[in-house]
Amino acid sequence: MTLILGIESSCDESACAVVRDGVEVLSSAVASQIARHAAHGGVVPELAAREHLSAFPRVLDEALNTAGVAMSDIDGIAVTQGPGLIPALLVGVNFAKGLALRHHKPLYGVNHFAGHIYGAFLGTEQHQLLEDENAYPMLALVVSGGHSSLLLLHADGHARHLGWTIDDAAGEALDKAAKLLHLGYPGGPVMQKTAENGDKTRFDFPRPLTGAAGKALSEENRYNFSFSGIKTSLLYTLEKLDLRNGKPIEPQLLADLAASFQEAVVDVLSRKAMKALKDFNARTLIAAGGVACNAALRERLTSLVPGNVNLLLAKPAYCTDNAAMIGGLGYYHYLADPQQGDGVGFDAFARLPEITAIRFAGRTQG
Ligand code: KG4
Ligand code: ZN
Repeated sequence: MTLILGIESSCDESACAVVRDGVEVLSSAVASQIARHAAHGGVVPELAAREHLSAFPRVLDEALNTAGVAMSDIDGIAVTQGPGLIPALLVGVNFAKGLALRHHKPLYGVNHFAGHIYGAFLGTEQHQLLEDENAYPMLALVVSGGHSSLLLLHADGHARHLGWTIDDAAGEALDKAAKLLHLGYPGGPVMQKTAENGDKTRFDFPRPLTGAAGKALSEENRYNFSFSGIKTSLLYTLEKLDLRNGKPIEPQLLADLAASFQEAVVDVLSRKAMKALKDFNARTLIAAGGVACNAALRERLTSLVPGNVNLLLAKPAYCTDNAAMIGGLGYYHYLADPQQGDGVGFDAFARLPEITAIRFAGRTQG
């Protein structure tokens, strides 16, 4: 039995988790800073760093206590090394380094983006898919505040980043739309809630880079996303409705705007995913990252994915930032090098090189 302590601080969640053998989550403690950032309408990096500094000792205690283990029981520590906000990442990385030195544990720097994908496999049933050759190739749709990407994963561990956003990420677009509609931060959950009573067909927002509305789609953008145009279209719509001056928006109109906007995002994400699924004959579709919490997106993917394709929707608790996905992925780093780890000399990075191999896929170590 191997116990990995995961530590995550790439954005505005301070999180620690204990994961057994990469599969079983013994604890997943998350201290969200949302309330602190809400007043600013988005995450303020320095504020995030200060909040991480004060939160980590108690989040660690909570993770260890809930799991019923002590630091002496932990086999290795995995920490998010990037991509993310540097001031925020540095706090988690240094906290992890301190723990590794103090308790003589091997330390591993983990990629947050790969962690999001791994989050979809947490739990025994989902995890079995990793061992199933017929479940490959797998297509991962990673949609969060920082990413909107399609990644193809092969049974031998090789991976290919098919496409990404050329401007805003899907979550970022929802956050910006919520701000325009004076709904607060973060936008995704409140947009979903507001959209519940809305008519998603009332406003016809654009579907960028899908080849819709007669606009030719270039080959290079076949799997890329673009969301800033939908946001601009919302802005113009508000101007047309004379609602740009802070005037309160009548509830039904607000619901219709939110529903139509969310529908545009969900439509683009699911269309692109279905196109890639077909083109590469993928046998599994994974949806991960904060936006994968979205009920409309989950329903749409469920209805579109053919019966002979596995659909793996990350559990909501493992969609948004958490440390279980880091501790789970960290297990594979540990397996590759259980003694030394990465040492305590490694740095944190806002961006990391494009992923070409996934450690946990198939039996090949990437
Ligand atoms: O994965 P995450 O916690 O952090 C990043 O790595 O970015 O994702 C946060 C993003 C935010 O943009 C938030 O608005 C969005 O995920 N989000 C949602 C929902 N819950 C969170 N978007 C749509 N529907 C939701 N229910
Ligand atoms: Zn994330």
